[in-house]
Parts: sequence; structure tokens; C-alpha cells
Amino acid sequence: MVNIGLIGAGRRGRAHLNTLKEIRDVSIKAICDIDEELAKNTAKEFNANYYTDYEKMLEKEDLDAVYICTPTNIHIFQAIKVAEKGINFMLEKPLSLDIENAIKLLETVREHKVVAGVGYQSRYLSIIARALEILSENKVSMVNAHYYWTVPIIPWIRKRELGGGQIVDQSTHLIDLFRYIVGEIESVYAAYSVVARSTEEDKKIGFENWDSYALTVKFKTGSVGNLSGTYALFPGIKDSSGIDFIARELLVRYIHGSRLEVMMRDEIIVYTEKLNPTLEMNKDFISAVKKGSDKDLKVSLEKTFRSHAVALAANKSAITGKVIDIDEFISKND
Ligand SMILES: NC(=O)c1ccc[n+]([C@@H]2O[C@H](COP(=O)([O-])OP(=O)(O)OC[C@H]3O[C@@H](n4cnc5c(N)ncnc54)[C@H](O)[C@@H]3O)[C@@H](O)[C@H]2O)c1
Repeated sequence: MVNIGLIGAGRRGRAHLNTLKEIRDVSIKAICDIDEELAKNTAKEFNANYYTDYEKMLEKEDLDAVYICTPTNIHIFQAIKVAEKGINFMLEKPLSLDIENAIKLLETVREHKVVAGVGYQSRYLSIIARALEILSENKVSMVNAHYYWTVPIIPWIRKRELGGGQIVDQSTHLIDLFRYIVGEIESVYAAYSVVARSTEEDKKIGFENWDSYALTVKFKTGSVGNLSGTYALFPGIKDSSGIDFIARELLVRYIHGSRLEVMMRDEIIVYTEKLNPTLEMNKDFISAVKKGSDKDLKVSLEKTFRSHAVALAANKSAITGKVIDIDEFISKND
């Protein structure tokens, strides 16, 4: 049996619990949230103990793994504590608001040899497996991605200093797929705007963020990529995010989480998604915990760390106006 504790029983914590209960050999032992009612009610549902202080939970419970689903400005510090105690964890993306603490987590994980996963569940989509298969036989020349969104539902994500901005919070999933399918990113240049969402109405609901994002990446393979993201729009736009992968006489259009359209000169093949990627990710994570190794875990911290570094480097580029080399960005802060 794999004994699980969860920190942060909000939107994402709930999504993990809903999938964990479908996995064999998993027992939810403890739930922690600073909202006591939420912690208590969630724990009751799973016949688990509840806590409002995660350090107490770590002290009292004998846990094989901890899911960390608290807000971005604090969860990296909780993950470092969990790793220092030698406990395996699944941490939600984005890892952190700065590169220094993300590196500190990576070093702590290496030192304590714990199994560490990060919530980049899109790697588990069957349409992504299909895209990977097709594109491994066809060199990608260019990627062109977009993430058209509105004001985030969760209030703290609206604030750039808590959520990190659209690229760090959301488009990080697309950047991760760039790397997963095309290869390592060498450098990024970005420019952001603050023109559309600075109205009184936006301020009243706590929106304090960039509203549109344009970035260009160079891959180590020689391929190039664009990504545009925005919080300026309204909810409900059809196919509001996705990536076009372009190879010689081939367009592989990925519609985020739902569909893959493979377009050739004389034929179009469409694949639709049926899997719940969070469930698939959690099955892989639980299996890594049982094995005591994250070498084969698709979303290990080792494999996904640079996706987060690219998102943070994009923010740095937008602020400084400079092209950021990713190796330098990581090693300067090492
Ligand atoms: N992988 C994905 O697709 C995905 C989707 C949504 C959210 N997320 C990420 O998950 C994380 C959580 O986001 P969310 O949308 O669930 O936020 P949320 O605000 O809905 O939930 C956060 C929960 O953490 C609790 N909390 C805050 N501080 C705490 C503390 N010190 N100790 C214990 N509990 C504490 C809050 O009371 C709340 O219940 C974020 O980093 C977010 O970016 C990932």
C-alpha cells in the first residue's frame, strides 16, 4: 500500500484526490489545508486524518508520498521540506517564482534521492504520444503555439507576484510539450504587454498582471518556435490553446488536451483524446514510488525542470529586453 498525504485541498488538490481513489494500492492517509473546514471535510470523505499545519502532518504520519497543491508562492518551500525528510512528492507546476529556489529543490531531491514528480500531465495524453511518434520520424522545423485565456478563476493567480504570469502559470504546459516533442530549448526572447487589462473593472477583481505575451525560442536542434499567450480574452473560446508542429510537408496540429490533426498534402487524419492525463500521471508516479526510482517517470523533476526554467527566463527577457540563454540562466544561479 502507498500511503499518501496531501497539502492544499483546493481545485488541483481535489483533481488529484479524484484520480488517486481510482488507483489500486493507494491509501489517502492525511489531508492538510489552512482552511480547517475544507481540510476536515475532505479528510472525512477519505477516512483520513486532517491537519492545518503541514509540518505537523509530516511529523505525525508515516507517508510514502506527499502531493503538494498549494499556491505557487509557497509550495516550493514545502517541497524542499518534504524532500529533506526523505519523502517522495508530486509537486504542482509551476515549481516556483524564481530560479534559485527551483535549483535548491533539484539539489535537495538529488541529495535525498526521493522520487519527485511535477504536474505536467499533458505528457500522458494519447494524442501527445501519437505526435511524438510521428514527429520522431520527421524533423520539426518550427512550432507555433497559442494560449488564449481570460482572467484566471483563482484570485491569487490574477496577481503576477503570486502566480508568476500567464507563461509561468499556464503556457508552461506548452513549453513542456515543446521540449518533450522537439528537444532542448537553447534560448528565449520575450516581450509582454500591459495595455488591455488595466481598467478599473480589472483592478477591482484584483487583476495585476501582464495581459499579453509573445515569445520566440531557439531549440538546440536548430528548430525555432513562437508562443503567444493572453489573459485579455473572455471564457469559452473554442480550441483556445494548442501547438502547430511544422515539418517538411507536414503540419501536426495539437489542440490542447483534446485533438490532434495530422495534415499532409493529400490527407488529414484526426485523433481525439480519451484519457484523463492526471489519472495516467498519478499511476506513473505511484509506480515510481513503489519502485523507489523516478528514472522512468515521465514527469520527474529532472526531466521537467528546464521547462520551468524557460518560462522564468521568458519573464526575465521581457523585463530586461535581452535574449536569455537557458544554460547560462540556470548555471549563473547554480
Ligand atoms: N497541472 C495543472 O494543470 C494545474 C491546474 C490547476 C492548478 N495547478 C497548480 O496547482 C497549484 C494550486 O492551485 P489551485 O488552483 O488548486 O489553487 P487553490 O487556491 O484552489 O488551492 C490552494 C489550496 O491551498 C490551501 N493553502 C494555502 N496555503 C496553504 C498552506 N500554507 N498550507 C496548506 N494549505 C494551504 C488553500 O487554502 C487552498 O485550499 C498552483 O501552483 C497551480 O498553478 C495546476
